[in-house]
Amino acid sequence: MKTVKLAAIAALILPATAMVAIAAAPADVIKARQDNFKIMGKAMKGTMDEFKLPSPNPAVVKANANALAAAAVKVKGGFPKGTGAETGVKTDALPVIWQKPADFKAADAKMAAAAKAFQAAANTGDLAKMQAAAGAVGQTCKGCHDTFRKPRS
Ligand code: HEC
Repeated sequence: MKTVKLAAIAALILPATAMVAIAAAPADVIKARQDNFKIMGKAMKGTMDEFKLPSPNPAVVKANANALAAAAVKVKGGFPKGTGAETGVKTDALPVIWQKPADFKAADAKMAAAAKAFQAAANTGDLAKMQAAAGAVGQTCKGCHDTFRKPRS
Protein backbone atom coordinates (compact mmCIF):
# COMPACT_ATOMS: atom_id res chain seq x y z
CA MET A 1 0.00 0.00 0.00
CA LYS A 2 2.93 2.24 -0.70
CA THR A 3 0.89 4.35 -3.11
CA VAL A 4 -1.80 5.02 -0.58
CA LYS A 5 0.72 6.05 2.01
CA LEU A 6 2.46 8.34 -0.44
CA ALA A 7 -0.82 9.89 -1.45
CA ALA A 8 -1.66 10.49 2.19
CA ILE A 9 1.68 12.17 2.77
CA ALA A 10 1.32 14.15 -0.43
CA ALA A 11 -2.09 15.34 0.69
CA LEU A 12 -0.44 16.91 3.72
CA ILE A 13 2.43 18.63 2.02
CA LEU A 14 1.53 19.32 -1.61
CA PRO A 15 -0.51 22.18 -3.00
CA ALA A 16 -3.83 21.42 -4.68
CA THR A 17 -2.50 21.48 -8.24
CA ALA A 18 0.03 18.75 -7.54
CA MET A 19 -2.66 16.62 -5.92
CA VAL A 20 -4.66 16.72 -9.13
CA ALA A 21 -1.73 15.19 -10.98
CA ILE A 22 -1.32 12.41 -8.42
CA ALA A 23 -5.00 11.55 -8.39
CA ALA A 24 -5.33 11.71 -12.21
CA ALA A 25 -8.57 9.98 -13.10
CA PRO A 26 -8.32 7.07 -15.56
CA ALA A 27 -10.42 9.07 -18.02
CA ASP A 28 -7.81 11.84 -18.00
CA VAL A 29 -4.95 9.39 -18.46
CA ILE A 30 -6.75 7.77 -21.39
CA LYS A 31 -7.52 11.10 -23.01
CA ALA A 32 -3.94 12.28 -22.58
CA ARG A 33 -2.49 9.18 -24.25
CA GLN A 34 -5.02 9.38 -27.09
CA ASP A 35 -4.19 13.06 -27.62
CA ASN A 36 -0.50 12.15 -27.70
CA PHE A 37 -1.17 9.43 -30.29
CA LYS A 38 -3.12 11.99 -32.33
CA ILE A 39 0.00 14.16 -32.42
CA MET A 40 2.00 11.15 -33.57
CA GLY A 41 -0.57 10.29 -36.22
CA LYS A 42 -0.53 13.86 -37.49
CA ALA A 43 3.26 13.88 -37.64
CA MET A 44 3.33 10.60 -39.58
CA LYS A 45 0.64 11.76 -41.97
CA GLY A 46 2.41 15.09 -42.46
CA THR A 47 5.58 13.19 -43.28
CA MET A 48 3.99 10.75 -45.70
CA ASP A 49 2.03 13.52 -47.42
CA GLU A 50 5.23 15.48 -47.90
CA PHE A 51 6.91 12.52 -49.60
CA LYS A 52 4.04 12.35 -52.06
CA LEU A 53 4.93 15.79 -53.38
CA PRO A 54 7.14 16.14 -56.49
CA SER A 55 9.79 17.89 -54.39
CA PRO A 56 9.38 17.21 -50.68
CA ASN A 57 10.53 19.95 -48.36
CA PRO A 58 13.16 18.60 -45.92
CA ALA A 59 12.22 21.31 -43.39
CA VAL A 60 8.63 20.07 -43.24
CA VAL A 61 9.81 16.49 -42.74
CA LYS A 62 12.20 17.64 -40.04
CA ALA A 63 9.48 19.51 -38.16
CA ASN A 64 7.29 16.41 -38.23
CA ALA A 65 10.19 14.20 -37.14
CA ASN A 66 10.79 16.48 -34.17
CA ALA A 67 7.11 16.48 -33.20
CA LEU A 68 7.00 12.70 -33.49
CA ALA A 69 10.14 12.17 -31.43
CA ALA A 70 8.84 14.44 -28.67
CA ALA A 71 5.54 12.55 -28.46
CA ALA A 72 7.09 9.09 -28.88
CA VAL A 73 8.84 9.19 -25.52
CA LYS A 74 5.52 9.87 -23.76
CA VAL A 75 3.78 6.69 -24.91
CA LYS A 76 5.20 4.48 -22.19
CA GLY A 77 3.81 6.63 -19.40
CA GLY A 78 0.29 6.50 -20.80
CA PHE A 79 -0.74 3.01 -19.76
CA PRO A 80 -0.79 2.64 -15.98
CA LYS A 81 -2.78 -0.34 -14.64
CA GLY A 82 -6.46 0.39 -14.35
CA THR A 83 -6.76 2.46 -17.52
CA GLY A 84 -8.22 -0.18 -19.82
CA ALA A 85 -11.76 -0.81 -21.04
CA GLU A 86 -12.76 -1.88 -17.49
CA THR A 87 -12.95 1.83 -16.68
CA GLY A 88 -16.00 2.21 -18.90
CA VAL A 89 -14.15 4.95 -20.77
CA LYS A 90 -13.97 4.57 -24.54
CA THR A 91 -10.55 3.19 -25.33
CA ASP A 92 -9.03 1.02 -28.02
CA ALA A 93 -6.37 -0.27 -25.64
CA LEU A 94 -6.66 -4.07 -25.38
CA PRO A 95 -6.28 -6.01 -22.09
CA VAL A 96 -3.23 -7.78 -23.54
CA ILE A 97 -1.27 -4.58 -22.81
CA TRP A 98 -1.44 -5.40 -19.10
CA GLN A 99 -1.30 -9.17 -19.57
CA LYS A 100 1.96 -9.04 -21.52
CA PRO A 101 3.66 -5.94 -20.20
CA ALA A 102 7.12 -7.00 -21.39
CA ASP A 103 5.91 -7.42 -24.98
CA PHE A 104 4.14 -4.08 -24.85
CA LYS A 105 7.23 -2.41 -23.47
CA ALA A 106 9.33 -3.95 -26.24
CA ALA A 107 6.92 -2.71 -28.93
CA ASP A 108 7.06 0.74 -27.41
CA ALA A 109 10.85 0.73 -27.20
CA LYS A 110 11.10 -0.28 -30.87
CA MET A 111 8.91 2.63 -31.88
CA ALA A 112 10.76 5.11 -29.68
CA ALA A 113 14.10 3.99 -31.17
CA ALA A 114 12.74 4.24 -34.71
CA ALA A 115 11.37 7.73 -34.01
CA LYS A 116 14.77 8.79 -32.71
CA ALA A 117 16.48 7.36 -35.79
CA PHE A 118 13.99 9.20 -37.99
CA GLN A 119 14.79 12.44 -36.20
CA ALA A 120 18.51 11.82 -36.76
CA ALA A 121 17.88 11.07 -40.44
CA ALA A 122 15.84 14.26 -40.76
CA ASN A 123 18.81 16.19 -39.43
CA THR A 124 21.02 14.92 -42.23
CA GLY A 125 18.89 16.70 -44.82
CA ASP A 126 19.07 13.58 -47.02
CA LEU A 127 15.54 12.96 -48.26
CA ALA A 128 16.13 9.31 -49.18
CA LYS A 129 17.41 8.58 -45.68
CA MET A 130 14.46 10.42 -44.15
CA GLN A 131 11.96 8.50 -46.21
CA ALA A 132 13.46 5.14 -45.34
CA ALA A 133 13.56 6.03 -41.63
CA ALA A 134 9.96 7.26 -41.70
CA GLY A 135 8.87 4.01 -43.29
CA ALA A 136 10.64 2.10 -40.56
CA VAL A 137 8.75 4.10 -37.93
CA GLY A 138 5.47 3.26 -39.61
CA GLN A 139 6.25 -0.44 -39.30
CA THR A 140 6.74 -0.07 -35.55
CA CYS A 141 3.39 1.74 -35.16
CA LYS A 142 1.69 -1.09 -37.00
CA GLY A 143 3.67 -3.66 -35.04
CA CYS A 144 2.14 -2.46 -31.80
CA HIS A 145 -1.35 -1.73 -33.10
CA ASP A 146 -1.69 -5.22 -34.60
CA THR A 147 -1.41 -6.79 -31.16
CA PHE A 148 -2.32 -4.18 -28.60
CA ARG A 149 -4.98 -1.97 -30.18
CA LYS A 150 -8.56 -2.88 -30.95
CA PRO A 151 -8.78 -3.46 -34.70
CA ARG A 152 -10.50 -0.66 -36.59
CA SER A 153 -13.68 -1.78 -38.29
C1 HEC B 1 3.49 0.29 -27.85
C2 HEC B 1 2.27 0.29 -28.61
C3 HEC B 1 1.99 1.39 -29.60
C4 HEC B 1 2.85 1.99 -30.46
C5 HEC B 1 4.32 1.72 -30.66
C6 HEC B 1 2.08 2.93 -31.22
N1 HEC B 1 0.77 2.91 -30.83
FE1 HEC B 1 -0.73 4.05 -31.55
N2 HEC B 1 -1.99 3.27 -30.17
C7 HEC B 1 -1.69 2.25 -29.30
C8 HEC B 1 -2.86 1.96 -28.48
C9 HEC B 1 -2.93 0.89 -27.40
C10 HEC B 1 -3.85 2.84 -28.89
C11 HEC B 1 -5.27 2.97 -28.29
C12 HEC B 1 -5.22 4.02 -27.16
C13 HEC B 1 -6.56 4.21 -26.50
O1 HEC B 1 -7.60 4.26 -27.19
O2 HEC B 1 -6.59 4.34 -25.26
C14 HEC B 1 -3.29 3.64 -29.97
C15 HEC B 1 -3.98 4.63 -30.64
C16 HEC B 1 -3.46 5.38 -31.68
C17 HEC B 1 -4.19 6.40 -32.42
C18 HEC B 1 -5.65 6.80 -32.17
C19 HEC B 1 -5.70 7.88 -31.11
C20 HEC B 1 -7.13 8.35 -30.88
O3 HEC B 1 -7.77 7.88 -29.91
O4 HEC B 1 -7.61 9.17 -31.67
C21 HEC B 1 -3.34 6.91 -33.36
C22 HEC B 1 -3.64 8.01 -34.37
C23 HEC B 1 -2.08 6.23 -33.20
N3 HEC B 1 -2.19 5.31 -32.18
C24 HEC B 1 -0.96 6.49 -33.96
C25 HEC B 1 0.27 5.88 -33.77
C26 HEC B 1 1.44 6.17 -34.56
C27 HEC B 1 1.50 7.14 -35.73
C28 HEC B 1 2.43 5.40 -34.07
C29 HEC B 1 3.86 5.30 -34.52
C30 HEC B 1 4.60 6.50 -34.72
C31 HEC B 1 1.88 4.63 -32.96
N4 HEC B 1 0.57 4.95 -32.82
C32 HEC B 1 2.61 3.74 -32.21
C33 HEC B 1 -0.49 1.61 -29.17
C34 HEC B 1 0.67 1.97 -29.84
